[in-house]
Amino acid sequence: MPTIQLGVYLTSGQETYRAVGWALEAGYRGIDSAQMYRNEKQAGRAILDFLASEANVDGLRREDIHFTSKLASNSAYDTARKAISRSVKECGLGYIDLFLLHSPYGGKTARLESWRAVEDAIKDGEVKIGGVSNYGVKHLQELLASNPNIPPAVNQVEVHPFNTRTDITSFCQEHGIVVEAYAPLVRALRMKHPTIVQLSNKYKCTPAQLLVRWSLQHGYVPLPKSSKKERIVENADISGFAIADEDMQRMDGLDEYLVTDWDPTDCP
Ligand SMILES: NC(=O)c1ccc[n+]([C@@H]2O[C@H](COP(=O)([O-])OP(=O)(O)OC[C@H]3O[C@@H](n4cnc5c(N)ncnc54)[C@H](OP(=O)(O)O)[C@@H]3O)[C@@H](O)[C@H]2O)c1
Repeated sequence: MPTIQLGVYLTSGQETYRAVGWALEAGYRGIDSAQMYRNEKQAGRAILDFLASEANVDGLRREDIHFTSKLASNSAYDTARKAISRSVKECGLGYIDLFLLHSPYGGKTARLESWRAVEDAIKDGEVKIGGVSNYGVKHLQELLASNPNIPPAVNQVEVHPFNTRTDITSFCQEHGIVVEAYAPLVRALRMKHPTIVQLSNKYKCTPAQLLVRWSLQHGYVPLPKSSKKERIVENADISGFAIADEDMQRMDGLDEYLVTDWDPTDCP
């Protein structure tokens, strides 16, 4: 799975098309979309157009790109299964690399039936990998206790220094579930925080690069979003430095349970 992926939440179809093209040119190999974002089609089109273009200097093929989408709402098996097929058709990529249940909302029966739909989409070749998003520890335990044929490979949750969610991330890491960190840039709400500014100066990087690096050093897959070309390039340009252990701990200590979007992790 690519280590840094472009998020395309709150990005219109046209913006998504442009941003995905710029990201692929800049070296991103993963795109994070969702049914709810209403841009699966433009994301898929941008991927195919890039692959066929002269900008594809490395001769990349469909299988070199990792495309994610998510089920808008959990439901009965048939409804979920059909919705997954619709996403595959909508993106035009032939299959979806990673398909997630977007949240645990809907109750236990809907969660487990929707998961069965993901498993069957994998068996049918429409999806390569299955996962969940916004699952709290109790939702993960419920799914694992149901003896799934295929366990979830990913949990995508809000994770950054201002909301570290160590309860969820440590459970995932203990169970071999990859943590995808959404809102890794804290939605740009803490770029001027004194500790972030001080450490960015120390490492001669931007606040955004520091936040992406923090995520990677914890072993997460960050999904930074931007609709601006220069920021898309900047956010993935993080190989020139490493954050020292004591500074990682300082950043971990900034936790204030800051929720930038929604927090379904405790829902029944
Ligand atoms: N599963 C879920 O429930 C869920 C929920 C939320 C997000 N996500 C995923 O995670 C992705 C990222 O989360 P997010 O979009 O909420 O927040 P984010 O990536 O933390 O932050 C995006 C914000 O930061 C700004 N930004 C980007 N690069 C910057 C830079 N270098 N310097 C300053 N500002 C910068 C962007 O503005 P510009 O666009 O103007 O550059 C945008 O306002 C989403 O796109 C989505 O794919 C998933």
